[in-house]
Parts: sequence; structure tokens; C-alpha cells
Amino acid sequence: MGKGSGYGKVILFGEHFVVHGVPGIVSAIDSSTDAEVKKASKLTIRDERKTAKGYSEEKRLQQIESIERMLKAMDLDPKMPLDIWIGGSLPGFSGLGASAASSVAIARAISEELNLNLSNEKINSVAYEGEKAYAGNPSGIDNTAATYGGVMWFKKNPAGGQDLVEKIHLKRPVEIVIGSTGKVANTKAMVEGVAERKKANPAKYDPLFKQAESLAVAGRKAIEAGDLKKVGDLMNENHRILQEIGVSSKELDLLVDMARKQGAFGAKLTGGGGGGCMVALTPGKDLQGKVASAFKTAGYEFIATKIGVVTY
Ligand code: PMV
Repeated sequence: MGKGSGYGKVILFGEHFVVHGVPGIVSAIDSSTDAEVKKASKLTIRDERKTAKGYSEEKRLQQIESIERMLKAMDLDPKMPLDIWIGGSLPGFSGLGASAASSVAIARAISEELNLNLSNEKINSVAYEGEKAYAGNPSGIDNTAATYGGVMWFKKNPAGGQDLVEKIHLKRPVEIVIGSTGKVANTKAMVEGVAERKKANPAKYDPLFKQAESLAVAGRKAIEAGDLKKVGDLMNENHRILQEIGVSSKELDLLVDMARKQGAFGAKLTGGGGGGCMVALTPGKDLQGKVASAFKTAGYEFIATKIGVVTY
């Protein structure tokens, strides 16, 4: 039997914009998806992740397509019969890179089961192929975070070359609370929607994409300087432009407001939006606890964790 894992992530700056070549900042979180793979006589997928209601059913076809794409990218028969188990501590909530984490986990488990000895670089590129089934035209930020962990600056293949990936060093790990709307979102539809609206309305969208770039640059400086108040303010700004490009939702805005009212330094949706999750920057155990208990009281699921704990 082959085994593998992939990290979940939160995007601190630049989801959606990153698909179009704007830099983004991502942090892996200390929850991962695990996979076990065995050669078999037919394809079986046992998905035992804790998920938002309807997540597995909604993603089922994309999951099968993703596995076929990955097998092809490994020069294997895309219809190869395998017994695949998926579990681990990362919940199947939209926005946490759960699809990328599962792709990395499955690719690693296949590599081990078939003695392919694939490098991390190859696993990352195979998982990127798998991500296409879930995201259509993914940036690659999720699979890169799922493969390597850490906090990183990511820019999709500048000038048509390799993706630019740089480590970002935090002064210390910082507490965050991830709130889940409980709504399953379709990343592919969200990414396509942004691309269509951008094309139809460049006068509105081009300046927003410029702002997203400035926010990522300023966010990186503030993170590296340990200026968490500034990071929070910039995250708030990032949420505002995500609202403007039409990827937030009533529940996301509600959770973002709730976190800010409890004193979060900043809060924004994370990932594809349209449902899924948001992230609040809550330095210190007390503030983290306050935001987490507000979510709990209001009946929302949450993950209280840290950015900067999972290292390369
Ligand atoms: O919703 P998630 O966890 O799949 O994150 C998607 C992030 C996007 O920027 C919207 C898409 C991408 O490929 O970067």
C-alpha cells in the first residue's frame, strides 16, 4: 500500500487575482489530507474526510476526472484500477485547498504504491494537472502550498516561464480562525465568472487587479516586518476588492463582520469564495478564542490554528 499527504492552506492575499498573474500570499495550515492507494481490480474511492454537507457528492465527478488527469500526467493508464482511501485532519470545506491537498496526497500515495519515486517537483506538477478538474484554469498556488507547506509568495509563470515561488519568513507563527459558511462552492465556476466579468468590464476590473497587486506587495512587507495591525488592515482591503469582483457572499460577509467586531486585526474570504471559508487574523490565544467562540455561538464551524507553523 502507498501513502501520502498534502497540506491545507489559507490565502492571505490575492485569490482569484493570482489566476491572472497577480502575486498572492498563501500559508499552509497544520491540517492535511491523507491518502492510501492499493492496486485493485476496479476503481474504488472511499472518501472519509469530514466535509461540509454535500461536498463529496458535489465534487465526485471532478474527483474522478482529477485522478484520471493525474495518472495521465504520471504516464500511466488514466483508467488504472486503484483502491483509494482519503481521510486526514483537513475538513472538506471549500476554500481550504482541500482538492489540491487530496491531489497531492493521492499523487504521493500512487508514487509510493507503484515505486515511481517522484520528486516533490513532479508531485506538484501532477497535482496541478489534477487541480484543473476542480478549478478549470488554476493558478497553481493551492497545489504548491499543499506540496511544500510554509508561507509563500506565489506568482503564476511570469513571462510564460516557471511559477515564481519565494518563502516568506514570519517573525513568529500567528493565530488565525478560519470560519466555514457550511456552503459548498464550485471553484471552477467562480474562477470562470471572474474571467468573464473581467473581460466584459476592463474599466472596472483593471484598476482592481492593480490594487490587488499593491496589496500583496504591501502585505508581504508587513508580514516580514511583523506589523500585524497593518497585515490585518490590508486583509480587510483585500476582502473589499474581492466583494467588488463578485466572489463574496452574504454568509462570508457576515462571518468577516463578526470576526472584526470581536477585535480580529483583519478578516477576509479565503479561496474561491461564493461560500466556503473566511480567515480572521487573531494574534494571541485570547483574541483567537473570542473570535472562535463567537462563531461557535452563531452555529458556524471553525478551525482555530496558526499561520507559519508548517515549515518546508
Ligand atoms: O477554493 P479553493 O481552496 O480551491 O482556492 C481557489 C483559489 C483561486 O485563487 C480562486 C483559484 C486558483 O487556482 O488560484
